[in-house]
Amino acid sequence: MEQDEPGEAMRELRERRLGVLELLQAAVGSGLAVYAAWALLLQPGFRRVPLRLQVPYVGASERQVDHVLSLLRGRPGKMVDLGSGDGRIVLAAHRCGLRPAVGYELNPWLVGLARLHAWRAGCAGSVCYRREDLWKVNLRDCHNVSVFLAPSVLPLLEDKLQAELPEGARVVSGRYPLPTWQPVAVMGEGVDRVWAYDVRSGGSAGQASPGPSSASVPGAPNSQAG
Ligand SMILES: C[S@@+](CC[C@H](N)C(=O)[O-])C[C@H]1O[C@@H](n2cnc3c(N)ncnc32)[C@H](O)[C@@H]1O
Repeated sequence: MEQDEPGEAMRELRERRLGVLELLQAAVGSGLAVYAAWALLLQPGFRRVPLRLQVPYVGASERQVDHVLSLLRGRPGKMVDLGSGDGRIVLAAHRCGLRPAVGYELNPWLVGLARLHAWRAGCAGSVCYRREDLWKVNLRDCHNVSVFLAPSVLPLLEDKLQAELPEGARVVSGRYPLPTWQPVAVMGEGVDRVWAYDVRSGGSAGQASPGPSSASVPGAPNSQAG
């Protein structure tokens, strides 16, 4: 027995090392799997977008979509969702009468998914999803704009909206407010909250003039509702 002890100790050590190696392999394997999923599913389309402008996909909540539509319903003119994801806001906008409704999205998988949803809803020919960089889309003819983007890109977005949107356009921002514009209405609570802004004349073209910090919008019922 005494003689076996060093051999047994070596065996035990080897087994333990194997255990550590297996753990290491599993960690590296799952890291690679996460990277592959990110590279294949989320990264396409974003290669030419600077890292600081890349916004990951998170779908708007059902309530968030409802609030966006409450603040846009009945308005004339083209509606666009900048970074339209799986197309839920565009499809809902089309269904409540906003025409044309167009989604701009860089991720080709999400554009495909959005088109599939539209097709399943019987709206394939009527809603439009374009695989385009929102920073390169000209917003001159957009009267209703929906955005749900990361706070880090909103200052730059404000500049773009201010420079391009026509007078009378409305912007609805989901989950995060535009940093310096004054909202004309706020709806919902927490992650479902949305802010509406109207572009008025005065100052530079497309500049949003100050409005009530949080109040109702004419024609938007229950605009403080949660
Ligand atoms: C937070 S998600 C919102 C998705 C959708 N609007 C919604 O409310 O369900 C932001 C989306 O913007 C897209 N996106 C980010 N940067 C973009 C860009 N430069 N051009 C087009 N789409 C972009 C992302 O791929 C993602 O789908």
